[in-house]
Amino acid sequence: FDEVCEQTGITLTRYMMEVSRANPELRDLESLISGIQQACKTISSLVDRATITGMVGYANGGGSINVQGEEQKKLDVVTNDVLKRALRFTGKVGIIASEEEDVPVFNKDAYKVPGGEGKYQDVTVDIGSKYVTVFDPLDGSSNVDANIPTGTIFGVYEEAESMENCMVNDDSVEGSCLLNTLQPGDALVASGYCLYSSSCMFVFTIGAGVNGFTYDRSIGEFVLTHPNIQLPKRGKIYSMNEANRWDWDKPLQDYVTAIQTGQGQTKAKYSSRYIGSMVGDVHRTLLYGGIFGYPADKKNKDGKLRLLYEAAPMSFLMEQAGGLSLTGKTRIMDLVPQKVHQRVPFLAGSYDDVMEMRSYYDACD
Ligand code: AHG
Ligand code: MN
Ligand code: MN
Ligand code: MN
Repeated sequence: FDEVCEQTGITLTRYMMEVSRANPELRDLESLISGIQQACKTISSLVDRATITGMVGYANGGGSINVQGEEQKKLDVVTNDVLKRALRFTGKVGIIASEEEDVPVFNKDAYKVPGGEGKYQDVTVDIGSKYVTVFDPLDGSSNVDANIPTGTIFGVYEEAESMENCMVNDDSVEGSCLLNTLQPGDALVASGYCLYSSSCMFVFTIGAGVNGFTYDRSIGEFVLTHPNIQLPKRGKIYSMNEANRWDWDKPLQDYVTAIQTGQGQTKAKYSSRYIGSMVGDVHRTLLYGGIFGYPADKKNKDGKLRLLYEAAPMSFLMEQAGGLSLTGKTRIMDLVPQKVHQRVPFLAGSYDDVMEMRSYYDACD
């Protein structure tokens, strides 16, 4: 018990210091996570106080439509700016892609050597490779005015090709940004979310398990409260928007009917929980087990969730916590994005529950 108490005294800042002390090659990742946690603290305060400060409702009275065709909330726009600024000033991020940005944004400041004449250094000065960060600054934002949980989702990749080359050779920066952004989930070096709910929790992985840190406002730090989160192998909760049920494909309808009526493998009758904020639904699934999904349906053949900054980062967490994350049949972490905002069907959670769901697709092969 002492060991756990000792562990739970660790702040996120100290945790990443210990990680980078033991793995010096992760020092830049430490700065990056530090920037993200700072931004999440700011976003937590913005969400907490939105009704007091008037940061509610739609940006420009509903006139701001993002590339997804969604009306942007004021908080969608503000939180996006908070994250862009936080990442820019780490100097470790060359490119960001966001739900709220049409195309990946190149951060050329990351390539200026401090004190230089502000020009791009020639290739002889190795200023090191940078990270690519993808994020959904405010997930579940349609719920935020009703004080329902929301979150920030992020994923971190290493540059597939250094942006320095394209700057020196004057190649198309946009082309190189895309090449560096459209990487499969398997290439993620870190991913996580910050949940703004009854408490504010930062849950993430750097590929060595999943750890949860609760924001202690009395000291202004995220404190380790959920070391090494492991998904239960089986749960009793399913979480999907059943308004779409009659548009789902038959294998999924049959699976859900089975677990609703006690005809599934465990003969248990599952209960339903659906928040409509992916971060809240994923967090409950990680801790309680079961299956969460936004499946494909007749109207949305690729479902609703975006591969790059929702499905892939959450799939990394699910797998690191011992769970599974599929489109229905195929592993999400294998998918190479073709477009920044492409959608993908997402069914993830407890290993045995997701395998049982998948067996309904195998049966119809
Ligand atoms: P976002 O608010 O970032 O656009 O994401 C909303 C997503 C996700 O949070 C949630 O799982 C899903 O939308 C809910 O969609 P429905 O309201 O169609 O169920
Ligand atoms: Mn949105
Ligand atoms: Mn989202
Ligand atoms: Mn969002």
